[in-house]
Amino acid sequence: MKSISVIQLLLAAAAAPVRAAASWKNVNIGGGGGFVPGFVFHPTEKGVAYARTDIGGLYRLNADDSWTAITDSITTDDKWNNWGIDAVALDPQDPDKVYAATGMYTNSWDPNNGTLIRSSDRGATWSSTELPFKVGGNMPGRGMGERLAVDPKNSKIIYFGARSGHGLYKSTDGGVTFSKVSSFTAVGDYVVDPSDTTGLNNDKQGIAFVTFDSTSATTNGATSRIFVGSATNSTSSVWVSNDAGATWSAVAGQPGTYFPHKCKLQPTEKALYLTYSDGTGPYDGTAGAVYRYDITNGTWKDITPVSGSDLAYGFGGLGVDMKNPGTIMVASLNLWWPDAQIYRSTDSGATWSPIWEWDGYPNMNQYYGLTTPNAPWIETGFLSQDTKHLGWMIESLEINPLDSDHWLYATGLTVYGGHDLTKWDTVHNVTIQSLAVGIEEMAVLGLASAPGGSELLAAVGDDCGFTFKASSDLGTSPKTPWMTPQWASSADVDYAGNKPANVVRIGSGSGAQQVAVSSDGGASWHAHNGTDTTKSSGTVAYSADADTIVWSSGTSGVVRSQNQGTFTAVASLPSGAVIASDKRNNTVFYAGSTTGTFYRSTDTGATFTAVSDALGSAEAVRDIIAHPTVAGELYVSTDAGIFRSTDFGVSFTKLSGLTNTQSISLGVGSASGSWNLYAFGTGANGNKLYASADAGATWTDVQGAQGFGSIAVASSKVLGSGNVAGQVYVGTNGRGVLYAQVSVSGTVPDATSSSSAPVKTSSTAAAAPSSSAAVKTSSTSYAAPPTTATLTLSSVKTTSTVGAELAQHWYQCGGVGWTGPTACVSPYKCEKQNDYYSQCV
Ligand SMILES: *[C@@H]1O[C@H](CO)[C@@H](O)[C@H](O)[C@H]1NC(C)=O
Ligand SMILES: *[C@@H]1O[C@H](CO)[C@@H](O)[C@H](O)[C@H]1NC(C)=O
Ligand SMILES: *[C@@H]1O[C@H](CO)[C@@H](O)[C@H](O)[C@H]1NC(C)=O
Ligand SMILES: *[C@@H]1O[C@H](CO)[C@@H](O)[C@H](O)[C@H]1NC(C)=O
Ligand SMILES: *[C@@H]1O[C@H](CO)[C@@H](O)[C@H](O)[C@H]1NC(C)=O
Ligand SMILES: *[C@@H]1O[C@H](CO)[C@@H](O)[C@H](O)[C@H]1NC(C)=O
Repeated sequence: MKSISVIQLLLAAAAAPVRAAASWKNVNIGGGGGFVPGFVFHPTEKGVAYARTDIGGLYRLNADDSWTAITDSITTDDKWNNWGIDAVALDPQDPDKVYAATGMYTNSWDPNNGTLIRSSDRGATWSSTELPFKVGGNMPGRGMGERLAVDPKNSKIIYFGARSGHGLYKSTDGGVTFSKVSSFTAVGDYVVDPSDTTGLNNDKQGIAFVTFDSTSATTNGATSRIFVGSATNSTSSVWVSNDAGATWSAVAGQPGTYFPHKCKLQPTEKALYLTYSDGTGPYDGTAGAVYRYDITNGTWKDITPVSGSDLAYGFGGLGVDMKNPGTIMVASLNLWWPDAQIYRSTDSGATWSPIWEWDGYPNMNQYYGLTTPNAPWIETGFLSQDTKHLGWMIESLEINPLDSDHWLYATGLTVYGGHDLTKWDTVHNVTIQSLAVGIEEMAVLGLASAPGGSELLAAVGDDCGFTFKASSDLGTSPKTPWMTPQWASSADVDYAGNKPANVVRIGSGSGAQQVAVSSDGGASWHAHNGTDTTKSSGTVAYSADADTIVWSSGTSGVVRSQNQGTFTAVASLPSGAVIASDKRNNTVFYAGSTTGTFYRSTDTGATFTAVSDALGSAEAVRDIIAHPTVAGELYVSTDAGIFRSTDFGVSFTKLSGLTNTQSISLGVGSASGSWNLYAFGTGANGNKLYASADAGATWTDVQGAQGFGSIAVASSKVLGSGNVAGQVYVGTNGRGVLYAQVSVSGTVPDATSSSSAPVKTSSTAAAAPSSSAAVKTSSTSYAAPPTTATLTLSSVKTTSTVGAELAQHWYQCGGVGWTGPTACVSPYKCEKQNDYYSQCV
C-alpha cells in the first residue's frame, strides 16, 4: 500500500509540468466561412443532426441552432486527415449512433488511408477502423452523397461507396470491419480531368450515394432494396439490388445523362427523388435535371423545374419533407448570376415555385428576407458587394424530417436556414438567416497580435481576414472582413513593432495589387501602390518603424518596398525565404532558407548576409520570430529545434527539449514583463504544441486533448498574445482560430542578457572547422532536397482556392468583383459566361 502511494505521488509530480489542462475554444469569426457538403438529420429523433465539412471535421447541431465540433480530439498530427469528412450516416434505429468516413485526399497530399469513425454517444467519443484505401473529403464530387448509409432494418449493416475505383464496401458488424461487395462493379469511372497529374482531378470519382428503400421487405433481417449511385456519365449511374446486396442491376429507364448528386427516398410516396448535374461539383454545372422515380411501378419522371435556355446550371441540394408527402425542394448547384435559385414543389414536382423571380429586369421579386446577425461580416463583405445572396455550391439542403418549418442549406460561404419554411406555401415569403454559429471552418494562413495594438489579426483563405481589436472582442463575430481591398484570401499579416497601429497584409490572388497597409490597427486599409498585380502570396514582415515592407512572395522571390515605393528584388535572399523584422530596431531584418541558412540584414532589408554556421546541423528554417519588446532577441525554428539569439542574429544558442519544430511565437507571460515561448514540435508528448516560460529550458504540453490537425507550419500557426498574459492562439487549416489561457511554470531568464541563457551555447558549432565549408550559401540551398510533403499543402487545402495561381477546369476565372485567378490550367480556356462570371472550360 505504502509503495503504491509513493508511486502515485511520483507520478503526480512527474506529470505536473505537462498538466496544463488548457481549455481551447474558437475565436468567434462566425458564419462558418467555408463549404458544408452535407447535412444529415435523424429520421425519428427530433433535433439530432450533423453537418460535415471538407477540411474542418464534423459538427453536431444543438437545440439553439448552434453547432459543436465533435472531431477535434481525433484530429491529431498523425491523423490530420480526420478533418476531411467525405460522408456521414446515422442509424435510423439508434439516435445516439453516428458514423463518418474521414480522409482528406486520395492522392499523395494525404499520407494516410481513410478511416471509418463511429460513435455511440453522438460524437462525444469515437472508435475507428482504418479503411484499406484513401478517402477524399476535400476532393471533387464531395457534395454528392451520402455515400455512407446504415441499413434502417439492421444496425449492423453499413455500406460505404469508395472513391478511386475501390467500389462498394459493406460492414455486417456495425462498422468494425468492412469487406468489398464484389458483385457491385459500377465503381464510378468518371475523372474530372484525365490530364491532371496531381492525382486530384484525375482520380476516379467513385460512388455517389447509397440509399436504402426502407419500404422494401427484409431478406434475412436486412433491407432488401438498396439503390447505389455512381459517378458515371454514361447510360447508367443508378443501380439497384433487390436481394439485400447480393446482386445488382442498372435501374431501367433512368435518364442516362448527367451525374446524380443526391438521392432521397420519400417512403410514403414510395418514390426516389434525385438531383443531377453535368459535373460532379462542387464548383461546376452548366446543365442538369431533377427526377422522380416511382418505385412501385418503376417509372422515371423528369421534374426539372426549368428548361430551355433557363437551364444553365445543374442541381445539387435536395430537400424532402417527410411529414408532407409531395413537398420537395431543389437548389441550383451553381448559378453564378444573378443568384442561386431554390425551388419548392408541393405536388411531387409537377409544378414548382421559385425563391425569386424577375419582375422586369433588373427588378427581382425576392420571396425571402435574408439577414446575417450571427455573422455581420457576411452582409458587409459579401451580400452588399454582390448580387449573389442565396449563395453558390449548394450541394446540401435539408428539411427537418420532424419539423416542416425548419430547413438548412449550405453554400460555399455559410450555412443558411430558417424556421418558417411553410410560409413559402402560404404567403410565399420565408425568413433566412446565417445559422452557422459554432461552425468555424476557415483556413488560417497568417496571424499577428500587436503589443499595445490590435489583439488579433487573422489572415484567412476565402474570406480575406479579420481584425479583433481587443481580447474582449474575441467572442463577437466581426462587423466586416478586411476590405478595400478585399481579396479572396490573405496570405499573411504583420505589425510594426514600434508603431503597432501600423499593419500590413498580403493577398494570394492576382489581377489586383496584393499588398495593403493600415495605420489604425487593421480597422481600415488601403492598397499599396508600390506593387504590380502579378506578385502574390508568401509571407510579409514590417519594419519596426513601419517604413519598410519585406515580402517573401510566392510568385516573384523576396521583394522590398520603402516609404510606399516600388517593390524591388532582394537579390541576396533565396526565393521562398522565411523572413522576420526586428520588432524594435527598424534597420534589422532576419531571414532563413528552407535549407537551413540564416541571414541577417542591418540595412533595413536592402541586403542580407548569410551568417556562417548559425544554426548548427539544421537543414530547414521553418519560422523566425523576433522578441516583441527586446531588440536583437530572436528565435529560429528548424528541423533541429529552436535556436535563440540575443545579439541580432550574430550568434545562437540551441534550446533543448524540442526537435523538428514548426510555427513558434512569443506571448505575454504571467510574471510581469515575461514572455512565454510557444512552439509546435516534437517533445515529450509527441508532435504537439508546447510552451516554455524559461526561454526553452523546460516545456509544457499546452495542447492537451485538443486536435489542431497537422502541426506542420503550413497548417498550424501558433500566436502568443501581445497583450493578455497566458493567452495563446492557434490558426488551423479548416477549424478557424482556437485559443486558450495557459499557465506555464518556469523561471524567466533576463531576456536582455544573453549570458543568462540557461541552455548550451552554440560555441561548439561556431568553432566548427573551416568557415567556407560550414556556410550554407543560398546557392547550395537550391540543390537541397525538397521539404516533406506535409509542408507543401498550404496552397491546396483551402476550401475553394485549389490551384491558387491558375484556376482548375470548371472553376471561376473572372467576373465583376472576382479577385481570384484569371487564367486556367492547361488546356482549359477562361470563357466569359456573363459580366459576373467567367469559367475555365
Ligand atoms: C493503406 O491500406 C493499404 C491496403 O491495406 C495498405 O497497403 C497501405 O499500407 C495502407 N497505407 C497506410 C499509410 O497505412
Ligand atoms: C457527359 O456525357 C454527355 C453525353 O455524352 C456529354 O455531352 C458531356 O460532355 C459529358 N459531360 C462530362 C462532364 O463529361
Ligand atoms: C406510376 O405511378 C405514378 C404515381 O406514383 C403515376 O403518376 C404514373 O402514371 C404511374 N405510371 C405507370 C406507367 O403506371
Ligand atoms: C419578403 O420579405 C422580405 C423581408 O420582409 C421583404 O424584404 C421582401 O420584399 C418580401 N418579398 C416580396 C416579394 O414581397
Ligand atoms: C495609392 O494611390 C491612391 C490614389 O492615387 C492614393 O489615394 C493612396 O493613398 C495611395 N496609397 C499609398 C499606400 O500610397
Ligand atoms: C540597430 O541595429 C543597427 C544595425 O545593427 C545597430 O547599428 C544599432 O546599434 C541598433 N540600435 C539599437 C538601439 O539597438
